[in-house]
Amino acid sequence: MQQETRIAPSILSADFACLGEELRAIDAAGCDYIHVDVMDGHFVPNITMGPPVLSKLKPHCAKPFDVHLMIAPVDPLLDAFIAAGSDIVTVHIEASPHTHRTLQAIKSAGIRAGVSLNPQTPASAVAHVMDLVDLVLVMSVNPGFGGQSFIEGSLSKIAELRTMIDATGRVIDLEVDGGVTPETAPRIIEAGADVLVAGTAVFKDGPGGYAANIAALRG
Ligand code: DX5
Ligand code: ZN
Repeated sequence: MQQETRIAPSILSADFACLGEELRAIDAAGCDYIHVDVMDGHFVPNITMGPPVLSKLKPHCAKPFDVHLMIAPVDPLLDAFIAAGSDIVTVHIEASPHTHRTLQAIKSAGIRAGVSLNPQTPASAVAHVMDLVDLVLVMSVNPGFGGQSFIEGSLSKIAELRTMIDATGRVIDLEVDGGVTPETAPRIIEAGADVLVAGTAVFKDGPGGYAANIAALRG
């Protein structure tokens, strides 16, 4: 069942020189999750942050840390990201031939597990890990950078995954990441998503705009 819309600001678009303050500001502005984009310069063509940064950020906000790992291989760093304070760890289905095992490891650590699909990956790719996941993340841009345009073809994939999630009878977040704006959000929600990641659309105006920008995405 589609849950109420939740907003997960991607701190990729925050001011990296003062991330703690930025976290407190989006928390006060009413965000639901803190979306942390981890990039390795290998699985995706950009580098962001690792476990030491995450553990320093954790005390600044009590909301769930939704950690999106765009790294390969992922298994060697999993424990470090879990120990650093992740509440949800999402891995890419394309990053390893053994995503099932990786998801088992995340679950056995007692936190929520997510699986993500790049734009070219069909919904069916995650059919046989559905029983292990608490979140499915649809990439609606090619991962690596903020500020890109929403890929319209993502909408049919979101709808397909909505059906697959509902068929499980379990509570599984359906999250969409990339090019989410007040213009695209209504169609994304209509297609069946219930967690919206947004970097540019939340952080574009500086702290004074965060509350209005988050509210504008809820539809
Ligand atoms: C892209 C990241 C996204 C990105 C979204 O690889 O996973 O979270 O920061 O940025 P916007 O909202 O600017 O498209
Ligand atoms: Zn992300």
